[in-house]
Amino acid sequence: MDTAEPRPGWDQLHQGDRRRGWDERHRSGDFEGEGPNPTLVLALAGVLPGTALELAAGSGTNAVWLAQQGWRTTAVDWSPVGLANGMAKAEAAGVEVEWLELDLLAWSPPTGSFDLVVIVYLHVPPEERAQIYPQAAAAVAPGGRLLIVGHDRLNATEGEGGPPDTVRLFTAEEVAAELLSADPDLVVERAEVVRRVPPPGRAPIDSLLVIRRPALPKE
Ligand SMILES: C[S@@+](CC[C@H](N)C(=O)[O-])C[C@H]1O[C@@H](n2cnc3c(N)ncnc32)[C@H](O)[C@@H]1O
Repeated sequence: MDTAEPRPGWDQLHQGDRRRGWDERHRSGDFEGEGPNPTLVLALAGVLPGTALELAAGSGTNAVWLAQQGWRTTAVDWSPVGLANGMAKAEAAGVEVEWLELDLLAWSPPTGSFDLVVIVYLHVPPEERAQIYPQAAAAVAPGGRLLIVGHDRLNATEGEGGPPDTVRLFTAEEVAAELLSADPDLVVERAEVVRRVPPPGRAPIDSLLVIRRPALPKE
C-alpha cells in the first residue's frame, strides 16, 4: 500500500487542509489495494469475532474484511471520500459496517467498549500519536485487544512505500512502551517486525503490535 503523504509539508498544514489532502488521495484511486492488510489478517488468525473498531479506516478495505469475518465493525475516518468508498465496498460485499466521519484529534472512542480496536497505517506526527493511540487502548474492553500495524522504522531504508518523513514511523516496541507507561495493566502479546519478503527484497516492512486488556476477575 502506498501511504505517501497527500502533498509535501502537510505536517505544517491546517487540519482542514490535511483532511482535504486525504480526500484527494481517496478520490484519486484506491491506494489501499485489493484486499485487507496481510499483517492484520495473520495477526487475527484464530481470534473469535466480537465488536471491532477501526480508527483511520480510510477507504474501508480492512473494515469490510473484518465485517466479512463476523466482526460487528465500526469504522472511523475524517475523510468523507474515504468513507464513501468504504460504504460502496460494504454494499458490494453485502456486509454492514457503521461508518463515522470524525477527527481523531477532536473525538475519542468510548472507553472499554470494543473487543478489538484496529489501527493500520496511521502515520501522524508523534505528538498526535501520543494522543490517539492511548485513546485507542482505552477503548478496548476487558479481555479485548488493540492491534496496531504501521510501517516500521526499517521501512525507510529497507522497505517500500510509507511516509518519507521518518519522524512519523515507529517500532512496535516504542508504541508498546508509550501505551504501557499510560496503562500498566495492559499486556503485550506481540511486538514484532513483519517482512513480506526476505532481505534484500523490497516490500513494505510492518511493525505489528498486539496488546491485550486483561479480562475482569470472575466473582
Ligand atoms: C494511509 S491511510 C490508512 C487507511 C487504512 N487504515 C488502510 O490501512 O487501508 C490513513 C488514513 O488516516 C486518516 N486520518 C489521518 N488523520 C486523521 C484524523 N485526525 N482523524 C481521522 N482520520 C485521520 C486519513 O483520512 C486516511 O484515510
